[in-house]
Amino acid sequence: MPSKNVKEPFVFILFGASGDLAKLKIFPALYEFALQHRFPEDFWIYGYARSEMTTEEFKKSFENSVREKFGDETNESALEKLLLHIDYFQGQYNAPADYKKLLDTLKKDSPEGTPLIAYYSVPPTAFNDISINLSPFKEHFDMRLTIEKPFGGDEATARDMFAILEEHFDEDNVYLLDHYLGKESVQSILSMRYTNSIINHLLKGQLIEYIQITSFEPFGIKERGRYFNEVGIIKDMVQSHLLQLLALVTMSMPNHLNAESVHREKYHILSALTFNPEKFLLLGQYDNYTKEKDIPEDSKTETFAALKLCIDQTDWAKVPIYIRTGKMMNRKSTYITIVLKKLSFQESIKGLKSNKLIIELQPEGHVYFKITNKRGGTYHEYHQMSPSESLACFGDDCLPEHGRLLLDVMNGERIHFLSFNEVIACWHFIDKVLKEAENQNIPLKKYSDGSEGPDGEIEFLDPIRKWHQI
Ligand code: BG6
Repeated sequence: MPSKNVKEPFVFILFGASGDLAKLKIFPALYEFALQHRFPEDFWIYGYARSEMTTEEFKKSFENSVREKFGDETNESALEKLLLHIDYFQGQYNAPADYKKLLDTLKKDSPEGTPLIAYYSVPPTAFNDISINLSPFKEHFDMRLTIEKPFGGDEATARDMFAILEEHFDEDNVYLLDHYLGKESVQSILSMRYTNSIINHLLKGQLIEYIQITSFEPFGIKERGRYFNEVGIIKDMVQSHLLQLLALVTMSMPNHLNAESVHREKYHILSALTFNPEKFLLLGQYDNYTKEKDIPEDSKTETFAALKLCIDQTDWAKVPIYIRTGKMMNRKSTYITIVLKKLSFQESIKGLKSNKLIIELQPEGHVYFKITNKRGGTYHEYHQMSPSESLACFGDDCLPEHGRLLLDVMNGERIHFLSFNEVIACWHFIDKVLKEAENQNIPLKKYSDGSEGPDGEIEFLDPIRKWHQI
């Protein structure tokens, strides 16, 4: 029996229940909870959407998405039992009368104080309507609003969104979800630092020469042209996912591994991000981007970015941080390379490579050191050894990223979510980056589909460095 199951009855409302995210991520995650016996005896799952649909039709779509994902391995009895807990409610997102009906229905079955998880699987334009209309529910339920990025489109719109949330709820009622924080490998960063003094001691600015974060995807924008063309890769990938990774490796470890302390320490880093406006950013666009569906021929949206930044704190002041990310690259790969400083006597050994800590997050999760040592024998030759340990989950306790995070919401655990302050700090930084890019009129470099990005980009950011390859 997995260690972390949900003990109290709860209500789960999935807004946008007829959409893709629901079908691809949320239904399968709920099924896996059922399969792993994580649910209490009483719970209610409601799909809420504008589409006309009967409960039977909704159950069918739930069932289909589970079967699509698990095929012949679908456990019939787990699925059948789960479907008994599922219902559908048709309503508009901005119609108070619809919510009133929903509230009356829910109150009949659930006693006061029951946790109500509202999952916003809808476009951001519907977020505020849902938050406002859910406000009366808090009289009866213990509210847990689960909202997935993008949280606004810049600092001002994020602030507006949070102001509306704060008008109706406490921040503790809100779970800002960045799916990267649900990845087993990403969660390992925190747990490794907590349990491992070797790694934690090394993650200090005074000991580190530089850090690189790479995140490549081998495909383009798929069916999301309209969305992507408006935001570009800096807002899509750097603003939340990659800055969160940076915060997790560079923050001071709090004494207590709880949400408040972790959010505070991440915020200290995220609010101290800065850059030197000289040669800090390189932008690219894959050759066939403007031939993609819904993309204008003259689009100037970046699909690749390489950025050099720093953390304005004494410990980190001299440590450059490089982030690069791109679509339509030559591989799927997300990894962090932490290059350790050489000690003074090592500087004099010719060709000696720096020791490195590598945290590989995708496609496989691995953490390893590249430790420089002399080769066996009498020659003075040095090489890098790399013992490697998988960060993947093994056994019957594993869940996909949305599943892990949803389970946390059900258990009222907030550590792997974002605080309002963190999001505002990230937008503050990203807005400055984009403003400077515009002021400098940074050109967009074309790169071949399936490549490593525009030529010469690291040399542009820093003539003495190369990107670490894994
Ligand atoms: C999403 C972005 O947040 O993350 C997508 O909007 C991107 O553009 C995706 O493809 C990457 O997630 P993962 O888990 O596949 O690395």
